[in-house]
Amino acid sequence: MNTAVSSVAQERIVVTEIPGPKSLALHARRQAVVSGGVSATYPIYIDRAKGAIMVDVDGNHIVDMGGGIGVMTIGHSDDAVIEAAAAQARAVTHTLFTVAGYESYVRVCELLAQHTPGDFAKKTVLVNSGAEAVENAVKIARKYTGRSGVAVLDHGYHGRTNLTMAMNFKAMPYKLGFGPFAGDIHHAPNSYPFHDGLSGEEAAARTISYLEKKVGAQDLACLVVEPIQGEGGFIVPADGFLPALVKWCNENGIVYVSDEVQSGIMRTGNYFASSHFGIVPDLVTSAKGIAGGFPIAGVTGRAEIMDASHAGGLGGTFGGNPMAAAAAVAVFEEIEKRDLMAEAKRVEKTLKGALLELQKKHPVIGEVRGVGAMLAVEFTEPGTDTPRADVVPHITAYAIKKGLLLLSAGTYGNVLRFLPAVVTSDELLLDAVAVIDEALSSL
Ligand SMILES: Cc1ncc(COP(=O)(O)O)c(C=O)c1O
Repeated sequence: MNTAVSSVAQERIVVTEIPGPKSLALHARRQAVVSGGVSATYPIYIDRAKGAIMVDVDGNHIVDMGGGIGVMTIGHSDDAVIEAAAAQARAVTHTLFTVAGYESYVRVCELLAQHTPGDFAKKTVLVNSGAEAVENAVKIARKYTGRSGVAVLDHGYHGRTNLTMAMNFKAMPYKLGFGPFAGDIHHAPNSYPFHDGLSGEEAAARTISYLEKKVGAQDLACLVVEPIQGEGGFIVPADGFLPALVKWCNENGIVYVSDEVQSGIMRTGNYFASSHFGIVPDLVTSAKGIAGGFPIAGVTGRAEIMDASHAGGLGGTFGGNPMAAAAAVAVFEEIEKRDLMAEAKRVEKTLKGALLELQKKHPVIGEVRGVGAMLAVEFTEPGTDTPRADVVPHITAYAIKKGLLLLSAGTYGNVLRFLPAVVTSDELLLDAVAVIDEALSSL
């Protein structure tokens, strides 16, 4: 374990009501000046964080099972990441890479070329956020193919910019009232084995037939797919679904884009979740966990596709910022040095095992699913697949008062998703499940 983790006790410690008085005071200040469009899942404010624990301004040690929505994969305030970013900040903070380069940008692109699936020449563009990465993947695919159509899957989520809003499934809160939206985006059925009962081949045949009839393969520039859908509820597609989609894309000149903003960078115990399904995408998007909390994202893929754009067509002022790039290099180095991939697998074994045990006790748990440190529980009417939307708000409200931060997900708000740092100890993982057990017993 990272020695730095010990500088904040890796324990759940509750010293005030949560939210405490200092958090409530900050929340009142926030409400006066921060846009109401910026949601506040919990009215708590964090003073410092390390490993799996966030310490709020009232001194409560909160176990973070959301990891800043999947960003803190290697743990909060990792020493190596902080050092790399600080050293870079002392050296140079900004040049604009397109004007004057620096090594960390190039190194991140080398590492992404090395670790994304596929044994071919790859290139990368670095940007600032996941949504921006998805936008760029679409731009690149359109330029390469000379086509404009974009296909996405039901229950998908890709961001909050104008183009990515149009690519999202859920209207509320992501789209409602924000139109008009970008055109030529086509939503097709996904694979959701718990609900549709289809094999991967059957689900893929349904998706492909829908797109061929509704759009026509020859008009599609790209198909953008999250290998495990994040906001949609950590939906793991049936075996064979993704390989069939990739094959169809390859046969029809459609660029296959794997949106790995949430599932990538070792979250699932592989650098990219695509590898779990044996697929090799043409383009891969990365963001969230890539730089241990610093904002940087990228599109990586086949060199001939990535080079389709004319010079100046891709980029932006802060894209691939030196501190964030140096932090990303440190994240890759730490994953290798400390074999953090094995830690993601440990998290799966411990947490999934405990959640499966919990399912035996609470029949409202319809399904436990996920891979590595990307796990979820879907709540339904016992013995059916009818969503129970009341359970997750009850559990999350109960847990935060006990110093456990949990996140919801799912189109029907009936999924509890777990995105812990892979340095979260077995004790903390089991403790979290014990709190959820209490919450369910008090339902
Ligand atoms: C799969 C996926 N794509 C894109 C995004 C958008 O990323 P960002 O919030 O960094 O713009 C997210 C964010 O949750 C995501 O999960």
